[in-house]
Amino acid sequence: MDYKKIIAESIKIDGVSKEEIYASISVPPRRENGEFCLPCFKFSKILRMSPAAIADKLKSELVLPPEVQSVESVAGYLNFKLDRAALAENGLRAVAEKGDVFNKKPSNGKTVCLDYSSVNIAKPFHIGHLLTTAIGGSLYRIFDYLGYNAVGINHLGDWGTQFGKLVSAYKRWGNDADIEKCGVTALMELYVKFHAEAEKEPSLEEEGRHYFKLIEDGDKETVRIFDRFKELTLKEVQKIYDRLGITFDSYAGESFYNDKMEPVIKELEAKGLLTESEGAKVVDLSDSGMPPCLILKKDGATLYATRDLAAAQYRHDTYNFYKCLYVVAYQQNLHFKQVFKVLEKMGKTWAADCVHVPFGMVSLEGGEALSTRKGNVVFLKDVLSTAVEKAEKIIREKNPELIDKAAVAEMVGVGAIVFSALSTSRIKDMVFSYDKALSFEGETAPYLQYTHARCSSILSKGGYKYVSSRKISWDLLTDDESTDVVTLLNRYDDVVCEAAEKYEPCLIARYLLDLAQSFNRFYIEHRVITEDKAATDARLLLTACVKSTLKNGLSLLLINAPEKM
Ligand code: ARG
Repeated sequence: MDYKKIIAESIKIDGVSKEEIYASISVPPRRENGEFCLPCFKFSKILRMSPAAIADKLKSELVLPPEVQSVESVAGYLNFKLDRAALAENGLRAVAEKGDVFNKKPSNGKTVCLDYSSVNIAKPFHIGHLLTTAIGGSLYRIFDYLGYNAVGINHLGDWGTQFGKLVSAYKRWGNDADIEKCGVTALMELYVKFHAEAEKEPSLEEEGRHYFKLIEDGDKETVRIFDRFKELTLKEVQKIYDRLGITFDSYAGESFYNDKMEPVIKELEAKGLLTESEGAKVVDLSDSGMPPCLILKKDGATLYATRDLAAAQYRHDTYNFYKCLYVVAYQQNLHFKQVFKVLEKMGKTWAADCVHVPFGMVSLEGGEALSTRKGNVVFLKDVLSTAVEKAEKIIREKNPELIDKAAVAEMVGVGAIVFSALSTSRIKDMVFSYDKALSFEGETAPYLQYTHARCSSILSKGGYKYVSSRKISWDLLTDDESTDVVTLLNRYDDVVCEAAEKYEPCLIARYLLDLAQSFNRFYIEHRVITEDKAATDARLLLTACVKSTLKNGLSLLLINAPEKM
């Protein structure tokens, strides 16, 4: 239950939206004034009244919602007091009853397709792929939790002339033992070598095209080689997906649409949308201020956009989606705008349900290059391993007695990387730093995991077990610190909903940081396990609710929370 929302709903100000009112509600600087307040200063201009007069007027017009105990107008503030004991009772009972693993919401019958990670065959899984994989994987869990039918799609980059070149390079210089041992790295080296050699010997380009034609025509031998490249790439990528706990429902990539573009092209033609431009076929988008969308090249070859049009149609027909999300870097803004516009021109009303969810770039502190062209890339698997190694060192120092250090280090190291990808708003470019990501004190995954482990240790020391019939003295949880924790716990589902609406896992990350900080303030001020049995019971219950909320929230961010660390 979001009390801010309840309060916002009860207030009417002419010319001010509910959202604005909601955003203005805060916690009073002096806690004896209540749990929430609405500062009225910024409405002065619109209403042409003094803040104090506005607060008075709002108070007189207000119908007090049952959840609010009282409202006061004090010096331009409208202050709301809640019944803190009732707040604690309702809030904590609800969370405690959910147990350690929160059940999904009942199905709402809506399907959300998520196109994410979408790796390219024979290309390394570099740190640039971290964001699409982490954001998409997290959104998948968020929608799944909220009762949607989430469909994860890995739209593999498995089509294009570059694969003909790779086959050519393989035939010339390929070494099976090497490829077996080094996997994608060996394939990349072949690709780099091809380009270097082709500069000296331009006929190689022709050979590359020839092999790609063989793949297109289904030549057994060539397709076998290409399939092996695919298999190798997916095997490597799978290891990363396993570490991040990510799964896909479909690996239908670009090549899957080879036989599904024809009807789309025919439809475009029939609807009079295809025009010719320098021999190529395009859809003119000048009325939307965009360059034309290329559908067929001069030689009749299809393009990335052609495949995305077929893919969108296929997803619509197959999944009848409520939303189809494309978690792809902002560099492809124009591409998706064009594709969605073409769908709209074709009269597909569902084009409006296709959403590009863009994100910024990742670089490493110290400016390490991430480019693929020259072959000097930072592999995500290396970044993960480095983080895990560093985590293990920190854990060894902090808690030498810990059993299972390696498993905990894996959770902490991988969690730190994923969290740094998910904790800032998507569109911001991100500079990654190991030290910052792994700090136990900053706004990091280890800090959240550590708080979770702290809760866990308090609970086991106190022999906590939830018994629904046990009487709890709720009035012992009415101090400021406990109330802050309870208020936050109450907001969990609303925050998850908002994260889904805005496609922003970072809202959950921010929320968990707030919750952990507020719990740690509570923990500094109040002893949980004391001689006072009633106080111990009440505070253990609060601690258990924080623990389970941290754990479930982290899992929506693909992060595991160890019991000890
Ligand atoms: N493989 C593409 C890339 O790495 C991303 C594909 C995104 N999905 C799509 N349907 N276009 O750039």
